[in-house]
Amino acid sequence: MSLTVEKLHKKYKENQVIQNFDFQISPGEIVILLGSSGTGKTTFMRLINNLERADRGTIQIDGHYLCKDNGKKAVYENRHQQRIYQNSLGMVFQDYQLFPNFTVLENLLEASLAQKLDSKENLTERAMTLLSEMEIKEKATVYPSTLSGGQKQRVAIARALMLEPSVLCFDEPTSALDVDSANRVGSLIRQLSEDGKAILIVTHDRSFGQEYGTRIISSESFINQA
Ligand SMILES: Nc1ncnc2c1ncn2[C@@H]1O[C@H](COP(=O)(O)OP(=O)(O)OP(=O)(O)O)[C@@H](O)[C@H]1O
Ligand SMILES: [Mg+2]
Repeated sequence: MSLTVEKLHKKYKENQVIQNFDFQISPGEIVILLGSSGTGKTTFMRLINNLERADRGTIQIDGHYLCKDNGKKAVYENRHQQRIYQNSLGMVFQDYQLFPNFTVLENLLEASLAQKLDSKENLTERAMTLLSEMEIKEKATVYPSTLSGGQKQRVAIARALMLEPSVLCFDEPTSALDVDSANRVGSLIRQLSEDGKAILIVTHDRSFGQEYGTRIISSESFINQA
């Protein structure tokens, strides 16, 4: 098991978006999260990425907790524990969120250098290997503004992989891509799952979900009455 979410609750004012929701994802799975607009898909992604606070529930990856429910509310771990959790989860945003003033290579190095995870030399070697796997090694020294959409996305994927996450999340990975580029990222995602990552994808693209997903869940299941 990688990511485990138990009895998650989240509401905005009177709007209960997620209620008593349980979710698990294992290495090798590609879970597709489908559902109508406004049903909480982005909210769920933000919760597991620690960009939003849960009201109730427990969230963990491989025994590293982000928060635990104490019977009354979700209690968040200390910053150090939260950091360990967050390093286990990579996120590729819909708009990629690359740093515009950093080169491609600097984008990859930023988080791991800031956390002093290894020497600069070793981290640079790892970054160049990832860029080469993503077939964008020759773009290492350019700035993100000079890249195509598909290239930016592959930089964002390489950056997410720098911290060796066990879970990788994608928000609408194909919305900005033509069919060929979408299939290219689909094959890449499949390869990552075969390498043992657990993949969670929010998409409105049903044919992509059916082609590449190993399991499809609906955001209508975020609300559980029980
Ligand atoms: N920061 C916020 N403050 C208040 N309400 C919010 C906030 N973020 C989301 N909501 C509400 O929570 C609900 C779920 O929103 P969310 O963005 O998670 O939906 P979604 O499933 O991602 O929709 P879409 O498919 O359109 O992207 C909506 O009713 C939305 O208005
Ligand atoms: Mg959304």
